[in-house]
Amino acid sequence: MEMTVIISNHPLVQHKLSILRNVNTEPKKFRQLVRELAALLTYEATSDLATTPVDVQTPLAVAHCRELKEKIGLVPILRAGLGMVEGVWELMPSSEVWHIGVYRDEKTLKPVQYYNKLPVEPRVQVCLILDPMLATGGSAVATADILKTWGVKKIKFVGLIGAPEGIALMEKHHPDVPIHLAAIDDHLNEKGYIVPGLGDAGDRQFGTG
Ligand code: URA
Repeated sequence: MEMTVIISNHPLVQHKLSILRNVNTEPKKFRQLVRELAALLTYEATSDLATTPVDVQTPLAVAHCRELKEKIGLVPILRAGLGMVEGVWELMPSSEVWHIGVYRDEKTLKPVQYYNKLPVEPRVQVCLILDPMLATGGSAVATADILKTWGVKKIKFVGLIGAPEGIALMEKHHPDVPIHLAAIDDHLNEKGYIVPGLGDAGDRQFGTG
C-alpha cells in the first residue's frame, strides 16, 4: 500500500510557516501561528470526511444541507501537539479530545507511553493525530498503534514539518495513515531535531527554551 503524504502549498500556509520558523518569533506569536496553521492544514485534511443530508429551516424556507456524519477525535501528542488542538477545535467544536502521553527517551530516541485514558470502546470514527514535528516518527507510530488497537478505523496525521526519517517510519508501520504537513525538511540532526525545522516546538510555544 502506498502512503499518502500531502504537503500544503497554500500561500497562507507557506507564509505563516516562514514566520513560525524564524528564531526571532516570540512564544505568543508562535502559539498563534501553530493554531492557525493547524486549522488551515486540518481544513485540507478533512476534505474527504463523510457527510449526511440534513434539512435545515432558514428564516425563509427549508434548505437541504449536509452535516458531518462521523464523530471526530483529536489526539494531540503531548506536549507540542496541545497548541494545535485549539485551532482544530475552533473548526470542529464537537470533536472529542483524547490525550495519549508518549515521550521520547532522549538516549534511545524511542517512544515511551506514560498516559492513556482512552475508554474501552472507541467513541469516535475518525482520529486526527496532532503533532507539529514529525521527527523520528516514533511517537506518531506509537500513537497510531494505540488508536488502531482501540479500534479506530480512520486515522490521519496532521503536523507542520516532517523529516524524511519520520515519514519513512510511518510508511513502514502505518501506510494507511495519510500525512498532512506544511513542509518536508532535509534531515534529523544527531539530537533528533529536524533541520532546518524550527527548533523545539514545545519550548517555543511554552516559553521553556
Ligand atoms: N521535536 C521538536 O520540537 N522539534 C524537532 O525538530 C524535532 C522534534
